Amino acid sequence: MQKFSSVDSIRTWTRQYTIAGRRVGLVPTMGALHEGHLSLVRQAKQECDVCVATIFVNPTQFAPTEDLSRYPRPLERDLELLRAEGADGVFLPDEAIMYPEGFGTYVMPPPVGLPLEGQSRPEHFRGVTTVVMKLFQIVGPDAVFFGRKDFQQLRVIEDMTCDLNVPVRIVPCDIVRDPDGLAMSSRNRYLSADERQRALSLSRALHLVEELVSGGERSVAILESAMKSELKACDSVDYAVVVDAKTLQPIECVGHAGAKSVALLAARLGNTRLIDNRVL
Ligand code: PAJ
Repeated sequence: MQKFSSVDSIRTWTRQYTIAGRRVGLVPTMGALHEGHLSLVRQAKQECDVCVATIFVNPTQFAPTEDLSRYPRPLERDLELLRAEGADGVFLPDEAIMYPEGFGTYVMPPPVGLPLEGQSRPEHFRGVTTVVMKLFQIVGPDAVFFGRKDFQQLRVIEDMTCDLNVPVRIVPCDIVRDPDGLAMSSRNRYLSADERQRALSLSRALHLVEELVSGGERSVAILESAMKSELKACDSVDYAVVVDAKTLQPIECVGHAGAKSVALLAARLGNTRLIDNRVL
């Protein structure tokens, strides 16, 4: 596995594959890798000839009050995991490479980024769209792999790519969970034993909604209140909603006009904020 830290070196390396007609797959991450990230690498390897991962804890997507400085950075372990998974290259830029002095151009996220995470974390998606667009330009991939775990992020990237005619294919990948249902996240390592136990209420709330819907329940008000009761085990709930899966706008009934819906939630356990979702 080759390591790159400059823009020119990774660009020159991936370009030789593209010119030779090989498909380059990109997996953007912030490191602290777990099975969720590794499943994206596996899918990239299946669908592409060359798999490039990136590890960059992107400061522009963290608010000043958020966990940027304590975000875990187990670099050697991450590299070992990527190597074991068969990634061909990894791009590890530092902050000065991605945001040199004088940097000032940002990508404004599409409207699907406005509700939910956009309300709870106002600058967040602008940082995500900007860094992801930069990674697209630097690596020049054919396909880019994103987890459905960050459902709204995936929708934001899909709309950005379409709106700006970016010639890449966005590949959504399924959520990987621990055996007890907790969606894997780099932030799970912050949870105490008690918080981790209570965090199971997130996947339970989503499971409950799914069961209610398979039992014929269609009322979003009833589904949301069922989720909220289950989430009482959390210290606070940012949102627990059922919305249209494309626009993320409120709906009254699941299955409205044949469209898909999604249950999305964000809750806190102690100082740790977790998100999870399920498409209905
Ligand atoms: P990060 O949180 O490191 O996640 C990197 C990718 O892994 C994202 O596409 C995310 O959805 C996916 N992922 C995380 N947990 C997952 C799980 N349990 N199952 C499946 N996929 C999972 O998301 C980011 O980084 C950043 O915002 C980034 C896109 C890299 C831009 O900085």
